[in-house]
Amino acid sequence: MSTLGLLTKHSDLVSVERDLVALAWDVSTRAHCFQSNFPVGAALVAVNAAGVSKTFSGCNVENDSFAATICAERNAATTAIAEGFTCFTHVAVVCRKHPGGSPCGLCRQVLRQFGSRDAVLLNICDHDSNVLRATVGELLPAPSGKAEPYCGLHYTERQIVDRVLRQVSLSHVPYSKKARGAVVVAANAEGDRKRYAGTQVDNASYGGTMSAERGAIAAAVSAGYKNILKLAVSGENPIDGECLQVLREFGGLTADVLFVGADKSVVRATLDQLLPDSFGPESL
Ligand code: THU
Repeated sequence: MSTLGLLTKHSDLVSVERDLVALAWDVSTRAHCFQSNFPVGAALVAVNAAGVSKTFSGCNVENDSFAATICAERNAATTAIAEGFTCFTHVAVVCRKHPGGSPCGLCRQVLRQFGSRDAVLLNICDHDSNVLRATVGELLPAPSGKAEPYCGLHYTERQIVDRVLRQVSLSHVPYSKKARGAVVVAANAEGDRKRYAGTQVDNASYGGTMSAERGAIAAAVSAGYKNILKLAVSGENPIDGECLQVLREFGGLTADVLFVGADKSVVRATLDQLLPDSFGPESL
């Protein structure tokens, strides 16, 4: 698995960074993690429209309904935004029991939206508060591969590309206006392989939206095909952190991701390239 960030001693942090690290530890003691017993704390510095900086913090808050859980990073982020501090410059995170576990895909998506590419990320990696120093931009890198033309693909991949583009037209996208299709190739416990397709399904309550990628993965898992080998999705880099996190659960780090262009060309990446140093089941 790729790692993210440069090991930096606590004594080498500047004072604003040390304060953030201390705050992340402190807020992690207030985590509501009765389901996972996995407390997380996050602290960030954000700037408002007047150029004023302020520090915010958050812990994870779990719910009987698993999906209603909010992670520490997003808790800190939404608290800052509610006060008008929408531009993040520094973020510190600690997984109290497992220092070094890095932000999940959903949190990466939110941090990336409100943090500039070069915003500082301090991932506390041990109980002495040493950190892995990275940037928020590194959390969700774009694929850098060359586009491969349709005519050069193996025929099974051409079939997948055709199906992805058919799925696009089935989308229900009155709110996002972003029609998308996805196909996964998945294996069951016996090693048999099958394809499952998904389409973008918006919901008036935006959070209830099912992305094409998640739909395809859910169809495969529901049929007992839990080992996702390949995910093909329409668009150049439309996969958001949430979908990558879902793929991480079932795909392993080597899952292939194919971005299918409107001209049927394909750009390849692996999950590990798109979600480096990811948060996965082994952290819990
Ligand atoms: N969690 C976070 O707070 N941040 C992350 O980036 C990963 C996961 C929380 C959510 C849940 O309460 C527990 O850790 C187990 O996933």
